[in-house]
Amino acid sequence: MCGIVGYIGAQNSVPVLINGLESLEYRGYDSAGVAVLSEGVINIRKTKGKVANLRDLLLEQPAAGNAGIGHTRWATHGAPSDENAHPHFSNDDKIAVVHNGIIENYQELKARLQEKGYVFHSDTDTETVAHLIDDFYKQGNDLLESVRKTLNVIEGSYALGVLCTDYPDQIIAARKESPLIVGIGKGENFIASDIPAILKYTKDAYILGDKEFALIKADEIKIYDIDGNEVHHDVYTYSWDVEAAQKNGYDHFMLKEIYEQPKVVSDNLARRFSEDGKHIELDGIKLGKAELENINQIYIVACGTAYYAGLVGKYLLERMVRIPVNAEVASEFRYKDPLIDEHTLVIVVSQSGETADTHSALKLAKAKGSRVLGVVNAVGSSIARDSDDVLYTLAGFEIAVASTKAFSAQVIAMYLITLHIAQELGTLDEKNFVEIKNALMKLPSQINDILTKAVPAIRGFVDKYIGSKNVFYVGRGLDYVVGMEGSLKLKEIAYLHSEPYAAGELKHGPIALIESATLVVGVVTQEALFDKTKSNLQEVKARGAKVLAIAMQGNTSIEEVADDVIYIPRTHWMLTSVLANIPQQLFAYYMALGLGEDIDKPRNLAKSVTVE
Ligand code: AGP
Repeated sequence: MCGIVGYIGAQNSVPVLINGLESLEYRGYDSAGVAVLSEGVINIRKTKGKVANLRDLLLEQPAAGNAGIGHTRWATHGAPSDENAHPHFSNDDKIAVVHNGIIENYQELKARLQEKGYVFHSDTDTETVAHLIDDFYKQGNDLLESVRKTLNVIEGSYALGVLCTDYPDQIIAARKESPLIVGIGKGENFIASDIPAILKYTKDAYILGDKEFALIKADEIKIYDIDGNEVHHDVYTYSWDVEAAQKNGYDHFMLKEIYEQPKVVSDNLARRFSEDGKHIELDGIKLGKAELENINQIYIVACGTAYYAGLVGKYLLERMVRIPVNAEVASEFRYKDPLIDEHTLVIVVSQSGETADTHSALKLAKAKGSRVLGVVNAVGSSIARDSDDVLYTLAGFEIAVASTKAFSAQVIAMYLITLHIAQELGTLDEKNFVEIKNALMKLPSQINDILTKAVPAIRGFVDKYIGSKNVFYVGRGLDYVVGMEGSLKLKEIAYLHSEPYAAGELKHGPIALIESATLVVGVVTQEALFDKTKSNLQEVKARGAKVLAIAMQGNTSIEEVADDVIYIPRTHWMLTSVLANIPQQLFAYYMALGLGEDIDKPRNLAKSVTVE
């Protein structure tokens, strides 16, 4: 949500900012703007709509300067409009600000500033920050101190970029709970919400900590805590290259990311086993037998797709470790005064590591004394930093808003965590461990198999079912969870109404909605539950539904109730989720493609949800 990029150095900042904003488009936004400083004047160009509109505006009204800040805005306070787009000016056009996050006490601050004579030109919370800095500046503080004082007054979350006409050689950046990095160049430096924005210029960055701010010049970077004490960070060097943030011949990032899954899964399995192959070894996790024996329950907390990956973990851990596991969406968990304590392990799952609800849930868990294990993709993100133990999911950049490869990586993490805990607590014997391990190792080639063979059939099913208005995803156990993820994908990118249901629950209400040609996707990979789900599919079939089944190779009797079947390669019961989800991803992708939707940037959605 919202993207920030900033530049100071010898180049004209405008192309750097525009390229950077384009690389951040995946985060989701509805307006864009830049502020550039040249010869003592800040020029702002901003507009509703895409970065392409901003490019056009800059052709009509050019701007240039060696220092600049840019922004893509995802509207929270005030509609998407030219006025509400960032950057925002202080009243005398001296200070310009871009902001990601929410200033929770902005109304109270705004009233105070209005009493002092400040005039507001937008509905945003951000404009308050520009005026506040200006107010402190007019009281005789220098720019850096004015920003620091402002940070002490504002409540909520922020990543900020600040430019001031009196300080043409510097940008000031600050962060609290919203991501911001300071990119390190040679004779030039950057700020960005995420590394893709500046990867063209540098891979080295300082990851700002919570409530820290930075003074950035072309040849100098200084970082301070909120009290003004200088702090020192190690340089973090990103291993990804520019290619990783490009489509590389694919029509969409989503498709590219779907096809990256064999590699992602194999990366996540590499070096996770001891040399003798008999144990799991998870770098970054210090949860041994003693710590685990102290735990009497597990909570898994996350949002959206990450939550569904967590649910897979719940089913597995309960079955294989026989310990009570609750899986909760973070936005509910954080306000329900959960029954957790120092004997609870809380596993938080997040691709971005910046999801506001998940991060708040983490903080709540820690405040209650629970141990927090983060399953995170983005290195150095808030959730990774604040977790007691971190298992990185090694999925690389995920740019498409609809999560695909990150889900597979998260599910693999759940497999590994389950195996680790089961082994430590002695609930899994060596024979079963080796059997599961061997099955795990086959997953990358099995995913590849689906990707190479299933596409023509799936495209055919899309042609057949593209007119569907309502789609149900049904299954039992792990298949039910996989259906939840399939249903979410279809909603997100094809804008099709779909609902996941536990197959056995259909007859308690939702079956009333089944009518001629309703599409029911039946996930039937759990062989122990096969006959039960098959009967439920028979029931919807009898009421006129069309049934598209996802089953394991060999279970051909499903054809008795299904109109169409996609077979996945045979695997251990506990590992079917990753394989069964691949056809669902492709189905949603080709549905959205057929319907002409904006697959990588679906309406109203953002990649990283940094507001409540
Ligand atoms: C997935 O397709 C979604 N875009 C969304 O549900 C996402 O998984 C959710 O917002 C959680 O994000 P996170 O993994 O970055 O915390």
